[in-house]
Amino acid sequence: RDDGLARTPPMGWMAWERFRCETNCTDNPKNCISEELFRDMADRLSEDGWRELGYKYLIIDDCWMSTQRDKEGRLQPDPVRFPGGIPRLARYVHDRGLKLGIYADLGTHTCMGFPGTPLNKIQVDAQTFASWGVDYLKFDGCYSNAVEHMLGYPVMSEALNATGRPIVYSCSWPVYQGGLPPDINYTLLGEICHLWRNYVDIQDSWDSVEGIIDWFFNNQDDLQPAAGPGRWNDPDMLIIGNFGLSVDQARSQMALWAIMASPLIMSNDLRDLDPAMRAILQNKLVIAINQDPAGFQGRRLLKEKSGIQVFWRPLSHSYIALVFLSLRRDMPYRYSTCLSKLNISAGVYQVYDVFKSSTLPQINSTTDFTVTINPSGVVMWLIAPETQTRSEFRG
Ligand code: GLA
Repeated sequence: RDDGLARTPPMGWMAWERFRCETNCTDNPKNCISEELFRDMADRLSEDGWRELGYKYLIIDDCWMSTQRDKEGRLQPDPVRFPGGIPRLARYVHDRGLKLGIYADLGTHTCMGFPGTPLNKIQVDAQTFASWGVDYLKFDGCYSNAVEHMLGYPVMSEALNATGRPIVYSCSWPVYQGGLPPDINYTLLGEICHLWRNYVDIQDSWDSVEGIIDWFFNNQDDLQPAAGPGRWNDPDMLIIGNFGLSVDQARSQMALWAIMASPLIMSNDLRDLDPAMRAILQNKLVIAINQDPAGFQGRRLLKEKSGIQVFWRPLSHSYIALVFLSLRRDMPYRYSTCLSKLNISAGVYQVYDVFKSSTLPQINSTTDFTVTINPSGVVMWLIAPETQTRSEFRG
């Protein structure tokens, strides 16, 4: 949506993948969906360097609500788990320089069975969220049909606009309609939403990440042109720091999400994060690539029989990000190529290895080189034409 919000992909933290619908605060007080959980994460985002890196949206997902609307017909949080209501939490979050996101569902119920937002409740819910100080809405699409989606998603866009409060609008519409044209009109989505979930929910496994990468790049001709400043495809949360990914696989998720200009929304436990995983999530260069102001979504260039795939994203100032991914299951693979085989124009290039944080010798477009790629891992390069000064790499 072209209103100046989300000019680069939104970054932050969301509860769902890690904390799901745990509502039992008696037995699991530290991990239940509650005001306390979000305060804990707000503290971490603001005290552990995340906010300065851009991770500023703290997003509540499903299961925050009471089972009933209030007497005036407004949504309300569970009174035990959110004793101060959403406004108190919003103040807490804003006081720390962060933004608050919330979840609702276009339909009779949310996916987990809490009160939904049917068509006739869209205005009141948009106004409620704005009055609470909400800055981001994830609008899911369970328990409604294609016609209701077609009507409801644009109406919510209007309703949020009418509140006068800047609210980033994330639409789950494509997920429920197969994610591809002609059932999904990406031009329309780009006009009404800032981002949208295209495909199935991420789970805590490499299989899930690999399946998502595969689907997005197999369909890149439909999806890639849809993205740009203010309108982003959303392949779902970063699961780095949980239980399912090795360090190499975590780098692969981070690298490919940067190539895809995807939202960087973590779902992990920021109170207890492995240092190697933290370093990946806080890698300034990969974040800068993700947040490049040109907002051009990258593409897959090659899918080799060997299981190696090469991805490319052009950036501002003629910089280019390259990712070499191995889907092999044997041993580190030595892949040889040269830049001209990757359709990169003639010239001399400086090369920076993003995860090794090291500058490599200059090459020109016909220099043969070999990268060693670990199984389910990546090598990520940032390359710049020689005329750029080396200090720009550190910017
Ligand atoms: C759907 C969404 C998930 C999450 C759950 C909550 O499955 O795609 O991201 O919000 O609903 O119930």
